[in-house]
Amino acid sequence: SKITVSLIKADVGGLPGHVTVADELIKAAEENLQNAKDSGLIIDFRVFRAGDDLELVMTHTKGVDNEEIHKLAWDTFEKATAIAKDLKLYGAGQDLLSDAFSGNVRGMGPGVAEMEFTERGAEPVIAFMMDKTEPGAFNLPIFRMFADPFNTAGLVIDPNLHNGFVFEIWDIYEHKKVLMRAPEEMYDILALIGAKSRFVIKRVFPKEGGKLPADEPVAVISTEKLYQIAGEYVGKDDPVALVRAQSGLPAVGEVLEPFAFPHLVSGWMRGSHNGPLMPVPFNYSKCTRFDGPPRVIAAGFQLANGRLVGPVDLFDDPAYDYTRQKAVEIAEYMRRHGPFEPHRLPMEDMEYTTLPKVMDRLKDRFESIE
Ligand code: 13P
Ligand code: 13P
Ligand code: MG
Ligand code: MG
Ligand code: MG
Repeated sequence: SKITVSLIKADVGGLPGHVTVADELIKAAEENLQNAKDSGLIIDFRVFRAGDDLELVMTHTKGVDNEEIHKLAWDTFEKATAIAKDLKLYGAGQDLLSDAFSGNVRGMGPGVAEMEFTERGAEPVIAFMMDKTEPGAFNLPIFRMFADPFNTAGLVIDPNLHNGFVFEIWDIYEHKKVLMRAPEEMYDILALIGAKSRFVIKRVFPKEGGKLPADEPVAVISTEKLYQIAGEYVGKDDPVALVRAQSGLPAVGEVLEPFAFPHLVSGWMRGSHNGPLMPVPFNYSKCTRFDGPPRVIAAGFQLANGRLVGPVDLFDDPAYDYTRQKAVEIAEYMRRHGPFEPHRLPMEDMEYTTLPKVMDRLKDRFESIE
């Protein structure tokens, strides 16, 4: 039978400000998920913090978008929110945009990455969790894992990867999606996903006729954009992803390799700045300098009939020290721009702006230029 892995996350309050998740919230989430495991609703779970985001990894056999599983996540976030309110944590309940659960957390504030698939003889799965950035931050690393031969040696030398992969890309402004094939449509794919605030990779599939079923995803990314949902800036969309590895897929090391480059992503300070994405161990998953810089953690598992064996803290490794040092240098370089673009985001992408008020105050002083 098929296994579903669900990674559902929300920011339900930060300690202090937007730095990290309080231990009390982690404990409450673990208790609630343990009850669900004891009752048989889920097979297994792990709880993480990515900066100030509370992250629930759950395995079960109920498929994606399942009402009971989503309700479990929602109830867990509500329980954590109650504690966050009691502790007066910052932005308690920030990402719970609705008061009442209505069947599915999609569009209600939490971010969701989940996939159902036939568990292989050995099934490595990696959960990536980012803070202080947006779903498009995954475009570059996911593309490189599944389509860039300079990243993934297997695309060239492993007959099982050599045919390439299919990318499901969402236009999150128009609420449309398109399936595109790599390598044959590589330049068109890049034309879209390079515009990362609008086009976001949602899933990756194997091609037909290969080792793996073409209708079972091998990677999935949360694409919820909260300001799109609510029509105004109400909360955060720090993203997560699940990626399967090995045996017809990129090796674990090929899945991790793109993160050796600390690429620039949007969402730092007030959701309104660009900065480097720094891969960190769980222990450093807290956002400090200028509320950042943006960070990613990676939790590695093997599945055993849905049981989660692990996690392994994959960026807890001196092999990523150079990347972190580079990220710190880039952070320093970007910070020296102060309120100037491209450190500060272009106007249309900022989550806060005083510009309309400034313009209003100046409207009588603007004169036409001859
Ligand atoms: P080992 O020889 O350590 O099993 O590694 C195999 C491999 O292909 C790693 O990418
Ligand atoms: P979060 O998106 O992690 O809540 O951070 C918000 C922010 O504005 C930090 O400066
Ligand atoms: Mg926050
Ligand atoms: Mg956050
Ligand atoms: Mg954010």
